[in-house]
Amino acid sequence: MRVGVLTGGGDCPGLNAVIRAVVRRGTRDHGFEFVGYRDGWKGPLEGLTMPLGVEQCRGILPRGGTILGSSRTNPFSIEGGVERIKDNLAADGVDALVAIGGEDTLGVATKLADLGVKVVGVPKTIDNDLSGTDFTFGFDTAVNIATEAIDRLHTTAESHHRVLVVEVMGRHAGWIALHAGIAGGASAVLIPEQPFDIAAVCAHVETRFESEYAPIVVVSEGAVPADGSGMTLASGEKDAFGHVRLGGIGDRLASEIEHRTGKEARAVVLGHVQRGGTPTAFDRWLATRFGLQAVDAVADGDFGTMMALRGTRIDRVPLAEGTAELKLVSAEEYAEAEVFFG
Ligand code: F6P
Repeated sequence: MRVGVLTGGGDCPGLNAVIRAVVRRGTRDHGFEFVGYRDGWKGPLEGLTMPLGVEQCRGILPRGGTILGSSRTNPFSIEGGVERIKDNLAADGVDALVAIGGEDTLGVATKLADLGVKVVGVPKTIDNDLSGTDFTFGFDTAVNIATEAIDRLHTTAESHHRVLVVEVMGRHAGWIALHAGIAGGASAVLIPEQPFDIAAVCAHVETRFESEYAPIVVVSEGAVPADGSGMTLASGEKDAFGHVRLGGIGDRLASEIEHRTGKEARAVVLGHVQRGGTPTAFDRWLATRFGLQAVDAVADGDFGTMMALRGTRIDRVPLAEGTAELKLVSAEEYAEAEVFFG
């Protein structure tokens, strides 16, 4: 059997570990051959391939990014896109696909599976907001990077008696902010799921200044102020690639805190630092296990499935179930962080 592999959407540490596991297991135990498709769904759409075998996978386990490249191309929004994909798979002699991606990439995989394409999915996102799986790989790495940043910011904030606002990724879900905020001892954690009250945030900041410590406020890029806070929202404008740029909440929050409390404040936007570089051991372990299970699913003819971490087991769930809804931070989980605010 010839199997195509692609990685789509925002990159994330651990993608190469999945590719390596798929290829190693598939070659050794199932006698498969592989074709690498470049740049997500753009690869099979435009026939962009690269050789993919055990040789190409040597040394990639600790490397961030993806050797296959990535894009946010959606064949369903391109005239004749699906037919072109089917034609190219046939021309490349590809019998089945392993698609590694987040909500959008796996959403495409779900629709293609319904149209008869033999595809299995592997979930990835640093945001950890896919509902079908307990964790996605890349998340642990992002949380560790954000936690290290918070640890470092504590010392400079204390030396200057300043407020440090740390903006982390998390468009719809506040998992990175919540986990890193708890791990880093933040004075407040602001997430998209819970509109924040700027007056309460400033009260936490002032409380923290009563001790010898300076406050660190962790904010998800998608966090929004509650009505009546007086803070304005980001414009939500789309860039040239049709992507809504969030950004800016950290800066606006720092100046609002400075204005209201009279304490000097600075904002740090971690941005794509959270997505780059080497994956943690946990992410390599999870990504590898997803890859092994995905290629076994291909061997079993178990198409239209997504790999999912359930407890410590890797299960196969229907693709449609895995991407059905976003997994958000619950009020109970947020309340655990709130105990340490101020
Ligand atoms: O979905 C993952 C993610 O990292 C989000 O947290 C973030 O909003 C987005 O990707 C950034 O995307 P881009 O790399 O296109 O700027």
